[in-house]
Amino acid sequence: MDRIFVTQPLLPDIKDFVAHVEDIWHSKWLTNMGTKHNELETKLKNVLKVPNVSLFNNGTIALLTALKAMDLPYGSEVITTPFTFAATPHCIVWNNCKPVFCDIEPNTMTIDADRIEDLITPNTSAILGVHVYGFPCNVEKIDKIAKKYNLKVIYDAAHAFSTEINGKGIGTFGDITMFSFHATKLFNTIEGGCLTYNDESLKRKIYNLRNFGIQSEEIVEDVGINGKMNEFQAAMGLENLKIYKEEQEKRAKIKAFYDEHLSKIKGIRIPKMPDGITNSYQYYPIIIEDDYPITRDELYDRFKEQNILTRKYFYPACNDYDCYKNDLAVKLADLSVVNDLKHKVLCLPFYGNLNFNKMDFICNMLSNCHFTGDLKCQ
Ligand SMILES: Cc1ncc(COP(=O)(O)O)c(C=O)c1O
Repeated sequence: MDRIFVTQPLLPDIKDFVAHVEDIWHSKWLTNMGTKHNELETKLKNVLKVPNVSLFNNGTIALLTALKAMDLPYGSEVITTPFTFAATPHCIVWNNCKPVFCDIEPNTMTIDADRIEDLITPNTSAILGVHVYGFPCNVEKIDKIAKKYNLKVIYDAAHAFSTEINGKGIGTFGDITMFSFHATKLFNTIEGGCLTYNDESLKRKIYNLRNFGIQSEEIVEDVGINGKMNEFQAAMGLENLKIYKEEQEKRAKIKAFYDEHLSKIKGIRIPKMPDGITNSYQYYPIIIEDDYPITRDELYDRFKEQNILTRKYFYPACNDYDCYKNDLAVKLADLSVVNDLKHKVLCLPFYGNLNFNKMDFICNMLSNCHFTGDLKCQ
């Protein structure tokens, strides 16, 4: 069988992209807040239902800038989840702060808001939550804690493009939110990302930080970085904005198929999206519980033998990384849910072009836990 990856990038019709490339050639304006960049920034406000958007060349630089824009004190502590991609805690450390890893909720796998207060010290400056797999953090509870202790709140919404919480854009919660537009994300600009925020006064600060701190020809206001999205990335975004909903609709059908077949299998748990939340359809994670006949790792290997590449997201968890074994991270919390789930989560192939035969083959493999090897897939 052809190799099946966990995802496939969303690609517009090549002719539509080439038409943008021709425009860019004629304009001779390749980067630095060009026409396509500005058009995408404006359009994303409506799509994400947010008042302010600043585009970036990738999600990591956007998150790095978000933390920088919050002016967190040198050496202060940022409470975050270790059940995320490496970029999340790395951005804290690049801002000269320390990640404090907090345990997660067993269903949404997001930071457990009930455990945050225990980790707050006089040195805590912020909470960095991750809407992992598109499941939203408990934004209300986090907001209350932040107000009580005067903390900044930053969200990593790399997996939550277009997600809404009771009709509100997920990027309107907290002080600032980062979205990633990497090629593997539901909506991509090849590499790219953005920040969203309610406070209008952050616009100028983020603009400066994204462009070396340069405010005008002779004025450099801040110690900025190069976070600018170029015109080719923006062109990809403008085209993918036209087709991402269709992709979501296809993924919704795939999810329904997986849900129907996998919910009947003993030992497989499908995390439930809380009420009032729209799904971004970024990933399809399942939990391989102890009463499933083989372990998650054995299952991963069996799939690999069949050329099906699932992902052990997130194994290792960030608290396991060698670089966080030293004193870069503060070790305080009991991380028993993370340390259990990191061995149990498996993300299945999930993209609009995944055909029925392949989905059926994957579901049959999961139900036939002894894997007799006689299953066929065309
Ligand atoms: C949770 C999370 N945060 C941050 C990032 C970094 O985004 P980017 O790849 O756009 O730099 C990613 C993935 O790519 C991610 O999955």
